[in-house]
Amino acid sequence: MGRPRRPLVAVLAFSMAAAACSGGAGPDTTASTASTTASTTATTTTPTATPTQAAAPHSAAPNGLGDPYFPGLGNTGYDVEHYLIDLTVEPALNRIEGTTTIEAVATADYDSFTLDFAGLDIADITIDGAAVDYRREGPQESELRVEAPLVTGESFSVAVAYSGIPDPTEPGALGFPTGWLTNREGTFVASEPAGAHTWFPCNDHPSDKAAFTFRITVPAGMTGVANGTLVDTAATAAGAATFVWEMPDPMATYLATVVVAPLERIEHPPMGDVVLRDYLPPSMDVPESFTLTGDMIDFFDDLFGPYPFDEYGHVVVSGFPAALETQTMTVFGEEWFDSPFTEFVVAHELAHQWFGDAVSPSTWRDVWLNEGFATYAELLWVEHLYGAAAMQAEAATRYADLAGTPHAITGDPQPEALFGMSVYQRGGLTLHALRAAAGDEAFFEILRTWMERYGSGAASTAEFIALAEEVSGADLDDLFQAWLYSSQLPPLPSP
Ligand code: TRP
Ligand code: ZN
Repeated sequence: MGRPRRPLVAVLAFSMAAAACSGGAGPDTTASTASTTASTTATTTTPTATPTQAAAPHSAAPNGLGDPYFPGLGNTGYDVEHYLIDLTVEPALNRIEGTTTIEAVATADYDSFTLDFAGLDIADITIDGAAVDYRREGPQESELRVEAPLVTGESFSVAVAYSGIPDPTEPGALGFPTGWLTNREGTFVASEPAGAHTWFPCNDHPSDKAAFTFRITVPAGMTGVANGTLVDTAATAAGAATFVWEMPDPMATYLATVVVAPLERIEHPPMGDVVLRDYLPPSMDVPESFTLTGDMIDFFDDLFGPYPFDEYGHVVVSGFPAALETQTMTVFGEEWFDSPFTEFVVAHELAHQWFGDAVSPSTWRDVWLNEGFATYAELLWVEHLYGAAAMQAEAATRYADLAGTPHAITGDPQPEALFGMSVYQRGGLTLHALRAAAGDEAFFEILRTWMERYGSGAASTAEFIALAEEVSGADLDDLFQAWLYSSQLPPLPSP
């Protein structure tokens, strides 16, 4: 492959899509409309710890986990351990019907609790098999209050039976809706950041991760794809089939995906123990960039520590000018194949499996821990292929783009700029600056320790800064203050 003209990232196409929708957004305003659930009240520019869950015994558990940007997301009083999402999908009508069963453990005493769930018709809700009362509440009716007590330490199983046509969220920071979406060949899901609860009831916040099982029943000629490992395919009546997928490792709700379309499974040689499979439209040749996934895993394994899951690959969809790092099964818009940057999008989404998926953000304010890291991984791939000088040249190009535009605060971008330049490019260059300050050995040790320590949960910017100082032994306050929390762009770091 020749050196791409100018490897960039997904977000630039996102920004262009958003600009097209909003009639030309200004720099780093990747959306004209913030998500309906977004708060614009958070103004602090210092990192904060994970929101606390205040226990208020014998009262109704409050909605929300105190996310500074999405105060309605998540719920108080329990931890989810497992979701079973059992859905029959009729792509022609865009209708779904089924049951989501949530296994959870109570972490406080309350008389009632909430799930995040919007739209769709509820048939009934049971707790440990017994029917319970429920009601919808909240500004968008996106809280589902279940009238059953929580007792600290006790496990319970809540099953919600529902049906209907899912209603995706309003276009948010990227300029297009999130949740359960349709395209010319069927249906697909892309939920980041706040679309998951428009298609299944959940504790919709990355600070509460859980294992998942999907049972997806689809019409004849269609394939049901989800996260993890395909463990069973069973023919049902009238030529329909049920596809059962297991995602045994903790996963954030926004990373859950279901794609229903005519799709063909392509297997690649595994990389070590990692099974590599893609799902492509039947007529499609295997894209060349997808054949590089194994080499990329091999390369990133050395830098970041072992690939965190059992499998990896892409599912290609139409009608989606983006890509999303849905755990083990990246949803990849076919539009990327016309782009000179395909390979860098492939590297970016793969890197998210470590940064974003294994280590998830504590709050949405910490999103640069996802996007800055995945963006820096593109530069690492450039360095691997073409050497340090090419990498520095690429960093300089991106720096020049940033320098010419006013942009948001990387460590506190606000909901409107959640997926803007300052999160991706300045976030990536923050790591470039850290590497220059700490040296290669300490820098990659920081990344590997980050994975080891937080690799099946969530972590915050403050925890990253503390870890970087711990591993490097350096005082890095000024560096992070300058890169993450000031509006002025610091000088371009060079190794
Ligand atoms: N995380 C995606 C990426 O950079 C970007 C993204 C955010 C996205 N929200 C989305 C993509 C919703 C598709 C749909 O790779
Ligand atoms: Zn990304």
